[in-house]
Amino acid sequence: MESNLKDAAPATVTADGKPVELPVYSGTIGPDVIDVRKLYAETGHFTFDPGYASTASCESKITYIDGDEGVLLYRGYPIDQLAEKSNFVEVCYLLLHGELPNKGELDAFNESITYHTMLHTQFDQFFNGFRRDAHPMAIMVGAVGALSAFYHDSTDITDPYQRMVASHRMIAKMPTIAARAFKYSVGQPFVTPQNHLGYAENFLRMCFAVPAEEYQTNPVFADAMDKIFILHADHEQNASTSTVRLAGSSGANPFACIAAGVACLWGPAHGGANEAALMMLQEIGTADRIPEYIAKAKDKNDPFRLMGFGHRVYKNYDPRAKVMQSTAHRVLGELGMKDDPMLEVAMELEKIALEDEYFVEKKLYPNIDFYSGITLKAMGFPTEMFTVLFALARTVGWIAQWQEMLEDPNQRIGRPRQLYTGAPERDYTPIIQRS
Ligand code: SDX
Repeated sequence: MESNLKDAAPATVTADGKPVELPVYSGTIGPDVIDVRKLYAETGHFTFDPGYASTASCESKITYIDGDEGVLLYRGYPIDQLAEKSNFVEVCYLLLHGELPNKGELDAFNESITYHTMLHTQFDQFFNGFRRDAHPMAIMVGAVGALSAFYHDSTDITDPYQRMVASHRMIAKMPTIAARAFKYSVGQPFVTPQNHLGYAENFLRMCFAVPAEEYQTNPVFADAMDKIFILHADHEQNASTSTVRLAGSSGANPFACIAAGVACLWGPAHGGANEAALMMLQEIGTADRIPEYIAKAKDKNDPFRLMGFGHRVYKNYDPRAKVMQSTAHRVLGELGMKDDPMLEVAMELEKIALEDEYFVEKKLYPNIDFYSGITLKAMGFPTEMFTVLFALARTVGWIAQWQEMLEDPNQRIGRPRQLYTGAPERDYTPIIQRS
């Protein structure tokens, strides 16, 4: 990956009275960076940035976020334009290759994805090892990691062809695995993918078709599912993407790296927030109880947070939330649920929170998870499946970032240091001497 770094005026850090000049680089858009790679060698000091809020971990050309302006670009294209005019498979190609495909490129890519959707028949037995009440994300973490036990011929990360095959396999098989995790949890037979169906339509059919009757995908649901996949596809160096990059930096195989991303995404502060947001709306129940929960969210002594609100980067409206809100209205409208009580609570909660000085001062806006849960529930998914759908969509983003990391000439194994505040060196004392 050739670099687009442009030199800017250097920065000077003075440590123990000794000034050290550090290079500063500019990217295409966004904040400049101070290159601190020689800081420890020249000053004996580490940088200190728990949570990495002020740290650029890498150079990337994939996704750009401007949190203050509420901007999200995939390879330069605004997310609202892609959600309105593109489709998920085309967005996958864009994220992986950096440019929108021409017709021939898209047809070839689509065919490759289509012909990798089936799983090894022995793989289906893997699901039987789980309890029926296992959380589908537990199944996803296990199943995605297990892919490396079935597809040895695409685990050599030094071989670009094997990296491409592994990438296509994961993009293609995640819907099949996710649908199987759902079917297993409801005790219904697995449904085989159909090559004549589109990506989102195929997934919905694998989730909701039963052998007892014909299944016809609702086109409004298929369009909503495709948009939800686009909105969740990538998001710069978020926690799960950084996990995938760190796992990949050790040379781990692609399936293991993506399994690590799935595990990280499961957390309620990250991808688990859509499930938590819906459970919160269900707990609030009616609009008259909203003030009670707003007060809990503002109470420093109460660990409760408004799930689906706030973001490490967006200090403005999450641009994905706007598309998600209109998608929610379309799906609920299709179902004649325009007056869905949960949507009413969500809309009222959003209105109150956006006017409350606590949320305004802390720049806490609804994020993508605030509306996705309502939409997915209306489409028939149980709350436990929400983060699975997020993982399914984010797989392409994880893979694109993993590929970019491997192609980066500056890539080394990730190995942060620390500020040690533990016990100084001391000698072992035999137990008879301990009080
Ligand atoms: C995703 O990074 C990504 O890009 C993630 C993601 C992606 O696509 O990959 O966008 C997906 O994970 C979206 C975020 C989903 N999570 C939630 O909706 C959970 C609820 N949100 C919070 O947990 C929180 O907002 C985070 C985790 C999202 C962000 O946390 P930060 O950046 O560490 O902010 P913070 O915790 O330091 O909060 C700043 C202040 C704090 O108050 P003070 O200590 O300054 O007094 O805002 C408060 C927080 O208490 N605060 C909230 C709040 N979120 C932050 N108060 C009430 N409700 C909330 N939701």
